[in-house]
Amino acid sequence: MKGKLVILTGAGISAESGLGTFRDPGGIWTRYPLEDVATPEGFARNPALVHGFYNARRAQAATAEPNAAHDALARLQRLWRDPVIIVTQNVDGLHEKAGAEVIHMHGTLAGALCAACGARWPAPMEMAPEDTCPYCGLAATRPDVVWFGEMPYAMDEILGHLEECTLFAAIGTSGQVYPAAGFVQEALRNGAETTEINLAQTDTSGAFEHHMTGPASTVVPRWVAALVG
Ligand code: APR
Repeated sequence: MKGKLVILTGAGISAESGLGTFRDPGGIWTRYPLEDVATPEGFARNPALVHGFYNARRAQAATAEPNAAHDALARLQRLWRDPVIIVTQNVDGLHEKAGAEVIHMHGTLAGALCAACGARWPAPMEMAPEDTCPYCGLAATRPDVVWFGEMPYAMDEILGHLEECTLFAAIGTSGQVYPAAGFVQEALRNGAETTEINLAQTDTSGAFEHHMTGPASTVVPRWVAALVG
């Protein structure tokens, strides 16, 4: 096989690095109301609560290490002779830590964004509502993460890659959040092969031609070895 590969990753790829998923039992959205911590309205109501939530996640992500699945995808990106586009919904930096280049469609904990002027800069470990934007000076700083009701980043670029890919794979994502959940349909429409790698069945399993079931840290290296040896 040859041609462009598009790989979508979700929280499941970082689970074995110790970062919790969202919708599994005990997941983040079973412990925090997402309307309060992951919507623009929640941020307007209580910015201190939202900053506290992301400060804790930033601290946790900073100490986490990539696992064998992140390493294998970085290796695939190095060895495959055509482009390997990794699109992640994760806001941790574990793909980069493993040496991969990645599109952060839901933003990143490493970034700060000014809600007033749109400027971006590297986030400090701790953000607070009174922090001012280094560009416009207003106290309107927020984590550079995409919340519910907001448009994910780089959608035109991602849809362009999906039009051109020969293989689309989704790893460790529950297929419950759009537009990422619709990528498999885009890829199928364009004639790509499709593979789902997950611990369990998901809402979009039925759309994929191939399935590999098991923990990402063992299944992804096996899948990569089958592609590049
Ligand atoms: N290996 C493989 N898959 C796993 C593993 C593992 N070790 N552990 C969990 N999974 C799978 C689960 O079976 C589930 O399908 O990972 C998926 C995690 O699903 P979610 O918690 O819903 O995470 P995700 O799909 O990334 O969520 C999408 O929702 O709240 C938003 O913005 C947030 O980016 C996130 C988006």
